[in-house]
Amino acid sequence: MARIICIANQKGGVGKTTTAVNLAVGLSTAGERTLLIDLDPQCNATSGIGATPSEAHPLLLDKPLRESLQDTSWENLRILPGSRSFVDVDRLERGESSDSAVLRQNLDTGMASFDFVLIDCPPSLGQLTQAALSASTEVLMPIQCEYYAMEGLTQMIHVIRDVMQRGQGRLTFGGILLTMYDPSLELTHEVDSEVREFFGDIVFDTVIPRDVAVSEAPSHGISVMDYAPRSRGCRAYLELCMEVLERD
Ligand SMILES: Nc1ncnc2c1ncn2[C@@H]1O[C@H](COP(=O)(O)OP(=O)(O)OP(=O)(O)O)[C@@H](O)[C@H]1O
Ligand SMILES: [Mg+2]
Repeated sequence: MARIICIANQKGGVGKTTTAVNLAVGLSTAGERTLLIDLDPQCNATSGIGATPSEAHPLLLDKPLRESLQDTSWENLRILPGSRSFVDVDRLERGESSDSAVLRQNLDTGMASFDFVLIDCPPSLGQLTQAALSASTEVLMPIQCEYYAMEGLTQMIHVIRDVMQRGQGRLTFGGILLTMYDPSLELTHEVDSEVREFFGDIVFDTVIPRDVAVSEAPSHGISVMDYAPRSRGCRAYLELCMEVLERD
C-alpha cells in the first residue's frame, strides 16, 4: 500500500505547499510513483507544478478520483488538482458531502499504483484537513522558525490525536520539519531546540534553509531542484527525500 503523507499545519505560510511540491518532485525523480493531491482552494500546489485547477472539486464529482488525475512534466508524478470554486469549497468545509469517507475510500481502492501520495492541506483545522488526516498514514508538519512557531500547535496535535484514535491506528506522526531556517538568527536556534526538546526523534535532521531560489521556483511552475539545482534549498529538499525514504 502507498505511504499517504498529509502535509498539514493550521498556520498559514509555514512551507506546506513548498514542501509538498518539492518532496513530490524529489520522490518521483528518485523513481517512486507519486501522486500529489491539492486540497487547498488556493491551488498553490497545482500552479506550483504547472498544472491547471479544475472547475469543480474532484471530491464532489460523482466519479472515482482516479479519473480526475492529471499528468505532469515529471514522468512518475501525477496530480489531483485543486479547485477554486467557492461553492464547492464551502460545501466541503461544511462537511456536506462525506468527503472524509470518499477520500479514504478512493485512496484505499483506486490508488494502488502509487508508492507515495502527498496531500497539501489548507491552513486550517477544518473539514478538509481532517478528511486528509483520516485518509493518511502519516502526517508531516512543517514549522517555520519564527517567534510564534509553537503557538496553536497544541490544537493541531489535539486534532491529530483525535483522528489517530478514531482511525483504527492507521495515522502515525511522520515527522516535523523546520522550514525557513536561518542559522544567523538566534531565534532560529531557540525554535530549533524548543521543537526538538518537545517532539524528540520525530523532528527531521534535515532543516530547510530560507533561500530565495525556493520562493522563486513556483512562479516558473517547477521545483527548486529543476530551477536551481545548485542551491541550498535544492540540496535540503533532496536530503529530506532521503530521510523520508529511510523512515519507511
Ligand atoms: N525555504 C524557503 N525559503 C524562502 N522562501 C520560502 C521557503 N519556503 C517557503 N517560502 C515562501 O514562503 C511563502 C509561504 O510558503 P508556502 O506557500 O509553502 O506555505 P504554506 O504553508 O503552504 O502557506 P498556506 O498556509 O497559505 O497554504 C511562499 O511565498 C514561499 O515561496
Ligand atoms: Mg499552501
